[in-house]
Amino acid sequence: MTQAGSSTAGNVPETYHYKVVRQFAVMTVVWGVVGMLVGVIIASQLAFPELNFGIPWLSYGRLRPLHTNAVIFAFGGCSLFATSYYVVQRTCHAPLFAPGLAAFTFWGWQLVILAAAISLPLGYTQGKEYAELEWPIDILIAVVWVSYAVVFFGTIVKRKIPHIYVANWFFGAFILTVALLHIVNSAAIPVSFLKSYSAYAGVQDAMVQWWYGHNAVGFFLTAGFLGMMYYFIPKQAGRPIYSYRLSIVHFWALIFTYMWAGPHHLHYTALPDWTQSLGMLFSLILLAPSWGGMINGIMTLSGAWHKLRSDPILKFLIVSLSFYGMSTFEGPMMAIKTVNALSHYTDWTVGHVHSGALGWVGLVAMGSIYFLIPKLFGQKEMYSVKLIELHFWIATVGIVLYIAAMWIAGVMQGLMWRAVNSDGTLTYTFVESVKATFPYYVIRLAGGVLYLGGMLLMAYNVFKTIAQGTSVNAVVPAPVDAHGPTPTLAKA
Ligand code: HEM
Ligand code: HEM
Repeated sequence: MTQAGSSTAGNVPETYHYKVVRQFAVMTVVWGVVGMLVGVIIASQLAFPELNFGIPWLSYGRLRPLHTNAVIFAFGGCSLFATSYYVVQRTCHAPLFAPGLAAFTFWGWQLVILAAAISLPLGYTQGKEYAELEWPIDILIAVVWVSYAVVFFGTIVKRKIPHIYVANWFFGAFILTVALLHIVNSAAIPVSFLKSYSAYAGVQDAMVQWWYGHNAVGFFLTAGFLGMMYYFIPKQAGRPIYSYRLSIVHFWALIFTYMWAGPHHLHYTALPDWTQSLGMLFSLILLAPSWGGMINGIMTLSGAWHKLRSDPILKFLIVSLSFYGMSTFEGPMMAIKTVNALSHYTDWTVGHVHSGALGWVGLVAMGSIYFLIPKLFGQKEMYSVKLIELHFWIATVGIVLYIAAMWIAGVMQGLMWRAVNSDGTLTYTFVESVKATFPYYVIRLAGGVLYLGGMLLMAYNVFKTIAQGTSVNAVVPAPVDAHGPTPTLAKA
């Protein structure tokens, strides 16, 4: 079925390829529920260790990487595929290049997720954070990712709008950089089908890993989601981007600076001291482009602030930017060596991670999927707008509980570990700090349960919307004038 619109190809209207967008959008919700459920399970295990049940494949050490992989690559990844495939078609006025390859990226990516969900609990891991999966899965990821790049850039090449809208710049940088990071960091020598050793040794291995790790934050968890911000906020607010010029400065400054900040993960290690200082310096500089982007997103609401009151999707999108601003202020502060001496190894880091992950990545992804679902299934709006509003509030309270508990716990741990008596002995044993952390672990668990509850509401709402709708593929508009739409917001 198609929506009304003009056609370009004679009598047969050319339509956008929405099927793959639909598939990724639905799986975003499914993997969101799964990944957050595992998050709640490991949060319970930290508070109540008996919940490990003495079963190796249910143990915290194996479920933790399952959680990070599920939320980042399954939930976050599917939302990025869905939105980038949608945005690139709409802003280029061109259906996807190589739709068969796009379908391959969907099934290939689900296979990667399945392989992760089986191999991680079984204990197969390379031991590199966010790059745990063993070499055969790494090869599959590389093949899927290169196919993704071919589909995305192929669509850009066949665009009918001369201008490349800024959201595509962010999506494009995310796709290219993640390919580079993954392929370089995963270089390994296999010794058996499910065991390999890193191609790098010692401190070089650590540096390559955290060059990867930090840029996974910068490009997977940031640049791609900024692509969402630059499309869905103007669309939902019905306003052009506050400053298109700022968006270009934002793009180049962000992608240049992120590359150099990785060493802040390796303060006070065997890494040469000057490298650590360089990482700290670039992290501090990173505050400027991050906040430039946040301001550009939030100010897009100029003249439409009143919409925030009644539009819960806009609430998701705009509040996500507030959390983005918070975590990108906190990150540079934590990168200062003396601050890191207190925060490293503590739950402060976990609080920082989740203010970015739950507040920024989670909320912007959810807002964008709420925008997409009705359009992909021929509906005017979601089944229940009230449920979106409820989801927003439950999630926000959940985030605040989670991150406030972790901040207090983290600073407390850092102070307890460094406290010394006048004779030079430690004031507290480690286990005393663990005992003192217990109440905060319970509060974090409550926050996580709320956040997961919100995700379940979303799953129900999405299910009902799909049940009453039908799959649609919008028609590609007829070519506009030679200059195309204004760059501030492509007429998509
Ligand atoms: C200007 C931007 C940012 C800077 C400079 C920054 C800086 C930092 C620093 C200094 C750490 C602690 C390293 C350590 O002590 O081990 C850290 C950890 C982390 N940050 Fe950020 N951060 C930024 C933004 C973000 C955002 C927006 C997110 C999420 C969406 C994020 C996700 C993470 C993650 C996942 C870790 C934990 C890494 C690990 O040890 O596993 N960061 N960040
Ligand atoms: C219901 C929601 C969630 C809960 C209850 C939860 C809980 C947890 C817990 C307990 C940990 C382990 C912390 C530790 O090692 O001390 C963790 C780690 C992590 N989670 Fe979540 N999480 C949730 C959602 C998310 C989401 C949506 C994302 C990303 C989009 C995310 C990204 C991460 C990352 C990157 C780490 C590793 C942090 C580090 O190494 O410092 N989480 N989570």
